[in-house]
Amino acid sequence: MNPPGQAVCPALTAKPGGPLNGEVHAPGDKSVSHRSMILGGLASGVTEVSGLLEGEDVLRTAAAVAALGARVDRLGEGHWRVEGRGGFVEPAEVIDCGNSGTGARLLMGAAAGFDLAVTFTGDASLRRRPMGRVLEPLGQMGARWLGRSKNRLPLTLRGGALRAISYRLPVASAQVKSAVLLAGLNAGGQTEVIEPEPTRDHTERMLRAFGARVEVFDEADGRHIWLQGGQALAGCEIKVPGDPSSAAFPLVAALITPGSAVTVRGVLLNPLRAGLFATLQEMGADLQIVNLREDSGEPVGDLIARHSHLRGVEVPAERAPSMIDEYPILAVAAAFAEGRTVMRGVGELRVKESDRVALMAAGLQACGVAVDEQRDSLTVVGVARGAHPVRGGARVTTHGDHRIAMSHLVLGLAAQAPVTVDEPGMIATSFPGFVDLMTGLGAEIAP
Ligand code: S3P
Repeated sequence: MNPPGQAVCPALTAKPGGPLNGEVHAPGDKSVSHRSMILGGLASGVTEVSGLLEGEDVLRTAAAVAALGARVDRLGEGHWRVEGRGGFVEPAEVIDCGNSGTGARLLMGAAAGFDLAVTFTGDASLRRRPMGRVLEPLGQMGARWLGRSKNRLPLTLRGGALRAISYRLPVASAQVKSAVLLAGLNAGGQTEVIEPEPTRDHTERMLRAFGARVEVFDEADGRHIWLQGGQALAGCEIKVPGDPSSAAFPLVAALITPGSAVTVRGVLLNPLRAGLFATLQEMGADLQIVNLREDSGEPVGDLIARHSHLRGVEVPAERAPSMIDEYPILAVAAAFAEGRTVMRGVGELRVKESDRVALMAAGLQACGVAVDEQRDSLTVVGVARGAHPVRGGARVTTHGDHRIAMSHLVLGLAAQAPVTVDEPGMIATSFPGFVDLMTGLGAEIAP
């Protein structure tokens, strides 16, 4: 398997136009897609995955899993087969995770328990992101590494015999939790992760689907997760649900564009991912969840969004883990609301694909929206006074961040003047069909 190339793509412009209408399917969930490849590679036997997100981040992880010894085949659109060897072997090449923090951090954890050396790198954004948060617990378990200063990529990880630890997460991060649990699979003893604030639990759920025993207890000091080392994983079938983080873009576009009604089908509604939808409903959004069902052990539903008069709200810090990737698009919804929206506890956004607090503040200001940026909070002053629209009319710098690009394009659809984003090629890391899906609903987005 060859890793995907970086797409070269001219700037994209979203123009204000008519209402958005129609029905679409959400693309596969990125978090679940990464995990299906990694666990499939660690397992013995065949894992068949349907609905895989074929974005660049996940394709990098699929290529990495192949380099680590699994056989990985694409059978059709979103339909993949992974044949694992029951563990990883030393790759002959450098593992390039592209733009993906999830790929890099989960693969480091998964590889740490094997007798191998593996060098990880990534694109310019990933090479700036902190890796110490996973290396620190992996080091306590016995892994070694040599990397650039401040534990930035590229770095070489030396895996081997690990011992189980009890680790209390210093940051609310599902990636750190997952790295420790995946390393714990091959550690001697019982690994415990304690999370003060629960974060997305796809790793725990999927480990169970692969036959592992994972125990979870809620205690006064947080959620405790136990995993006994030495458990073998058996290949299984995974149906990837639609990504709520991607569904958020057409849904918010409908909420802020007069006359719109959009349905997004098959959206993952895991409560640890659904913070944005609860927040939008608090803001007065006409956002309905219908057809609630269970698919591959995850709650899934269809969402219907209609243009709404939104009101500003306070978003408490405790909600951040359940909507961590959705603050950029929430900030756009907030710009069209009446009154102030205060988003607290958003410091982690500063170490995502870009400093998302700073870039949203800059982008919204360039579009005529008043904001107040603090280290750990962002306040957006909505302009909806007597249906007065957001001005728009800016060219926004995205620093290679897919969610900053998509959020500002959505803003441009409902603004007074078009909005242009640079580096739209990065959208393909998480949502390769974004422009087609949005234009299919009636949006005007073009080079
Ligand atoms: C992810 C966890 C989150 C999220 C990222 C995907 C995952 O990161 O921002 O896009 O799949 O575990 P953190 O765990 O670092 O908050």
